[in-house]
Amino acid sequence: MQKAIKITENIYWIGGNDRETDLFEGLWTLPQGVSYNAYLINDDKTAIVDTIKSGNLSDYIERLTSVLPAGRTIDYLIVNHMEPDHSGSIRMLRHLYPEMKIIGNKKTVEMIDAFYNITENIIEVKEGDVLDLGHHKVTFAMIPMVHWPESMVTYDTTEKVLFSTDAFGGFSALEGGIFDDELDMVHYEYEILRYFANIVGRYSSPTQKAIAKVRALQPRIICPAHGPIHRTNPNHIVDLYDKWSRHDTDEGVVVVYGSMYGNTKFMTDAIARSISEAGIKDVFVHDVSRDNLSFMIADIWRYKGLVLGSCTYNTELYPPMATLCRSLSNKMMKNRILGICGSYSWSKGALAELQLFAEQSGDWTLIQPSVEVKSCPTEEDLDQCRLLGRNVAEAVKKHFK
Ligand SMILES: Cc1cc2nc3c(=O)[nH]c(=O)nc-3n(C[C@H](O)[C@H](O)[C@H](O)COP(=O)(O)O)c2cc1C
Ligand SMILES: [Fe+2]
Ligand SMILES: [Fe+2]
Repeated sequence: MQKAIKITENIYWIGGNDRETDLFEGLWTLPQGVSYNAYLINDDKTAIVDTIKSGNLSDYIERLTSVLPAGRTIDYLIVNHMEPDHSGSIRMLRHLYPEMKIIGNKKTVEMIDAFYNITENIIEVKEGDVLDLGHHKVTFAMIPMVHWPESMVTYDTTEKVLFSTDAFGGFSALEGGIFDDELDMVHYEYEILRYFANIVGRYSSPTQKAIAKVRALQPRIICPAHGPIHRTNPNHIVDLYDKWSRHDTDEGVVVVYGSMYGNTKFMTDAIARSISEAGIKDVFVHDVSRDNLSFMIADIWRYKGLVLGSCTYNTELYPPMATLCRSLSNKMMKNRILGICGSYSWSKGALAELQLFAEQSGDWTLIQPSVEVKSCPTEEDLDQCRLLGRNVAEAVKKHFK
């Protein structure tokens, strides 16, 4: 039987690790899985914070019942977020504990009906309402759009433990450890960035509002709905989230190319080399056809500079490059330094679309020259590529001086 893991005297982790799902939301690759974190507060009254994706129910029930003596019921299920990776077992839990009251805000209550056809035994809560569990008093704060309209956090004021839903969460299953001091946080911080950039990043301004609320609460422990529990220095993860959602970047350049036969790659290789020669250490090159979008978006979120290179395909941008550009527009990233190049053999198409992308990207700065090559780059073309690389590098370095 799986066992609950103690966080404080009466608060337990009862989540599960999913290493079977290949793609989160059908889109984002999970090379090391993902955890769905749920929590039990075992007081005079028992309360659970969130459920689990339906396929992982047995781990959850085993961990839950490992703490509770036979016959002990669940008084409350607090629903922080209705995305089915957390709400997927609500119906089963209600079936197991028919007297259990489900707690959510006005929007949650509507969604519980729409997703699960449950309308009874529900308590609607508002910002600042207090739920008395005996020793523990918990309160609720709304953080709309981090990640859905109904998202809220639950705060245990007695022990200063924040159940922060998707905020501060990350990909990667929990590999034995569940706390920040038990895990390799270099790996997990990248996975938290990858989760933020792909799942939450579009909602950066709601995230800023959520961060202000979280800072005011001064939690001692942050328990997100995915990834490590932050108990060593919870401010650190809040600071990182703050930085990312302010579109504050690191010194570096991401180079992404779309190439069928290597001619465009030839150009971006020259560009990457000249960026490195200009003294930028963090240069990351992605093949847009092969690398999962989630890694490209995470790297692009992190760094100031971006170079996009694409061949022309049936008069248009190469399809996976078009997907990347559409996705970047949707994420509403701000204030990046961009260089573009493209290739064609007869009608052109790719570079013009990259130019349009640059124009529509708000406050991004397009660095010259934009390089367009017919079939295979000549030595002069490659010199232009090197010039573009140097200019991108200089613009990035200037920003960090
Ligand atoms: C399936 C296919 C469709 C293409 N469509 C166009 C096109 O519509 N217009 C054009 O100018 N070139 C087109 N090209 C030519 C490529 O864009 C051009 O050869 C480019 O330099 C290839 O770059 P790469 O070697 O990086 O793949 C096409 C090539 C292929 C294989
Ligand atoms: Fe979510
Ligand atoms: Fe989630």
